[in-house]
Amino acid sequence: MTLHLKLDNPDEENRLDHMAQGVIGTGANRPDGALKVSGQATYAAEWQRPDMAYGVLVRATVPAGKVEKIDASAVEAMPGIVKVITDPKLLRVPAQGMADAAPAQGNDEVLYFGQPIALVVGDSFEAARHGANHLSVSYLPQEARLDPDAVQTERPEGKQSSQGDLDGVMKTAPVTLDEVWTTPGHNSSAMEPHASMAEWDGDRLTLHGSYQMLKYNRNELADSLGIDPKNVRILSPYVGGGFGSKLGISPEAVAAALAARDLGRPVRVVMPRQQVFETITHRAQCRQRIRLAADETGKLLGIGHDNRVYNLPDEGFAEPVTQATPFTYAAENRAIGQEVATINRVIAGSVRAPGEAIGVPIFENAMDEMAEKLGMDPLEFRLKNIPETPPGQDIPFSSNMLAEALRDGAEKFGWDKRNPTPGAVQEGEWLIGMGMASAVRVNMLMESKARITLTAEGATVETDMTDIGTGTYAILTQIAGELLGLPMEKVTTKLGDTDLPPGSGSGGSFGAASSGTSVYLAAMELRRQIADKLDCDEADLTLKDGQAIAANKTHALADLVGETPFEAEGHIEPGDIASKAFQATFGSHFAEVAVNRHTGETRVRRMLGTFACGRVLNEKTARSQCLGGMTFGIGMALTEEMLFDTRDGHVVNNDFAEYHLPVNLDVPKLEVHFLQERDPYANPMQAKGIGELGICGAAAAVTNAIHNATGVRIRDYPATLDKIL
Ligand code: MOS
Repeated sequence: MTLHLKLDNPDEENRLDHMAQGVIGTGANRPDGALKVSGQATYAAEWQRPDMAYGVLVRATVPAGKVEKIDASAVEAMPGIVKVITDPKLLRVPAQGMADAAPAQGNDEVLYFGQPIALVVGDSFEAARHGANHLSVSYLPQEARLDPDAVQTERPEGKQSSQGDLDGVMKTAPVTLDEVWTTPGHNSSAMEPHASMAEWDGDRLTLHGSYQMLKYNRNELADSLGIDPKNVRILSPYVGGGFGSKLGISPEAVAAALAARDLGRPVRVVMPRQQVFETITHRAQCRQRIRLAADETGKLLGIGHDNRVYNLPDEGFAEPVTQATPFTYAAENRAIGQEVATINRVIAGSVRAPGEAIGVPIFENAMDEMAEKLGMDPLEFRLKNIPETPPGQDIPFSSNMLAEALRDGAEKFGWDKRNPTPGAVQEGEWLIGMGMASAVRVNMLMESKARITLTAEGATVETDMTDIGTGTYAILTQIAGELLGLPMEKVTTKLGDTDLPPGSGSGGSFGAASSGTSVYLAAMELRRQIADKLDCDEADLTLKDGQAIAANKTHALADLVGETPFEAEGHIEPGDIASKAFQATFGSHFAEVAVNRHTGETRVRRMLGTFACGRVLNEKTARSQCLGGMTFGIGMALTEEMLFDTRDGHVVNNDFAEYHLPVNLDVPKLEVHFLQERDPYANPMQAKGIGELGICGAAAAVTNAIHNATGVRIRDYPATLDKIL
């Protein structure tokens, strides 16, 4: 039996608030945690088969042109080499994800330096790598477009909206600001590099990979190979981080599948870190112009937010930089615009909160600067401009606790102790500053299915949903355990297998709420089945500690289930709930930095975030998401920066030695707080997404603090030493 819910209307019932066990919301441990830290969780690159071959990708060394000739004979004569695969399908750029199809490209065209063009297969990884280093390839080069600022934009119409007369109010308003900021390219930087092991059984392909969105990835892979998706099974039970880079199928999977089919033996392809940097989606560098106009009281009269990003030819994705701008603050006159340049640089795609991750902090820099011009406290300036309802829309917010989050964070952080004069607080050679920013991220519900089977032994939850380190195993286990009255140990959650009911996948912060709702619905259907058996209403049924209590009688759940397992599927679909209320998550960031007056070195001393994301499903994993987001915020503010060679566009800093993510010594104690919130529009659990909110705005708290410490405005990220001195 399937319980199907198309969410058209808010669900005001707070079922989970008075469940018998009270497991949901607690910081329950991850059931998969011990397996991961003891090496018992098998990741994609760890799959072994006795007759397995190893493939290493060979990649283009020109940024644009055609592959003229690949001479495989010398390499194929080398010891340990099995074959050089030169199928043109290898040239396809990675899928963006959630498109159900492989990208349109796929012939002999080279679109960027580092694009896969061949696969050398060997009996050992070492032999294959040696062969790959010696493969002779000639190209018919074409002129490449490498400078995102010099190139003609081809999609200037993208994402534009305007209301009122911004140009007019910029001329007449008493206080205005008009500045430009740039942010560099960012790499997703999942700890686990991309890897796939493919094996065929007749027409049927099984791929052990590391992916976020299996139901789409299966279709993308099938499309890449030109086969029926029914013949593709992808397994990704453990994923060592995705951050957007594993939303779509990537070249190592296509290569492994092609080679395994060709050779009739399993093939494993692992991308080393350098290939991940040069071949997988990155966040485009971006130029943002922000215009603000306000009256003397600090009421915003005008908001302008223009940006310019880029992508490869024919790619539909453009970083949605201004996604949060229309609804974060109110102003009568607004203009929002985007230009998308077409260049020959590794594909641009979703990276850790695409859009808000760079759009919100830059806007929050502008807000800080505007507050200074107005002589207002930055916190007060924000509070004054929070809209009652989403500007330009005739629907309410589903819930909006931005003001509460700002006040809560300010109080817990001690914002009232901030000296507003830059450079006023000093400790020896260190200049001390405090900064803050709002956190904003849109909220989405995605279609998702899950199945629960209840036997005398306990419950099994099954869906192709993934756990990319976010805590899905824990959360889905908690939800099923709570609703079925079972301790978590009696619930087994199976994920990451396309043979299981298609879940939402992990992306866009929608995973836990969407896949969790499908588990919730399946469990509700099981509760109804149990109630039927006891001849009572589901609402009068209490399930707790493996027991069913109805009409003052207690039954062991195991006895009720007996020999025949109970089975139910849950299926959630968004419906037209989005037309009833506008959903987003909100929060605040506060940071204190010390900047060395002699070296320009910035040390983040402490950082605090308060977040409102509806019901928190697991306090521990939610907190960990925010810690990660704030850490990436420190990275964006201070160190992260992809550098591209101006001659051929290749990624210069293609590993973690040169692309600087914050490490433990860069990250102080981070404090995370959650506000109590229920969002009836989000789903019946009233939980919103938390995965990406922690990064949105975080960098601005740091750079605004740098300004408070030094008087320097950072307009070109990251805030390296040279920009502060
Ligand atoms: Mo995310 S960047 O939608 O995985």
